[in-house]
Amino acid sequence: MSKTVKIHDLVFEPYVKNRVIQKRIKEIAIALKGEFGDKKPIFLAILNGSFVFAADLTRVCDFEHEVSFIKLTSYEGTTSTGKVTTQIGLQEDLTGRDVIILEDIIDTGTTIYTFLPTLKKTNPKSISVVSLLSKPSALKYPLSINHIGFEIPNKFVVGYGLDYNGLGRNLKDIYQLKEG
Ligand code: IMP
Ligand code: MG
Repeated sequence: MSKTVKIHDLVFEPYVKNRVIQKRIKEIAIALKGEFGDKKPIFLAILNGSFVFAADLTRVCDFEHEVSFIKLTSYEGTTSTGKVTTQIGLQEDLTGRDVIILEDIIDTGTTIYTFLPTLKKTNPKSISVVSLLSKPSALKYPLSINHIGFEIPNKFVVGYGLDYNGLGRNLKDIYQLKEG
């Protein structure tokens, strides 16, 4: 059994290995090339959690694209507060652009669902949502997610960009909260 990690007061156990994540990311990149290979899309990654996923995914997307970031927050500790705040907003003109939102994880869906109307107001040509992880049983909104890396149960995870109260983002693999 591989090693558990302690972050603040909680213990986490290994869940998805980095090499498994990279394999799935390559599959998503191939699918995106089929859809956007000649469209010069703009990836819009939602900080903080998606920075590692965005870095790995964009580097295997071998077609022309731009990368930008916005910063939205909804989480405190291990639960969603249900309130989304914008810390860094949209910086560029997205009129007529194919926009691909990159999320680390879609949990309740509050973050994306709250942000979509703001994005639509900028008149992009299309909006797609790509999330490395999704917790379908936690979803509270009718969201259509174009590509999901892994569907996971409704359990708190850290690593590969995801944090628990600020820590754990640097872990190469994804870890899941250990029960009991
Ligand atoms: P949502 O708004 O409920 O969909 O939550 C989205 C955001 O909450 C994600 O982008 C993460 O930053 C954070 N989040 C949700 N679930 C987890 C988790 O299991 N671990 C770490 N962060 C999470
Ligand atoms: Mg996030």
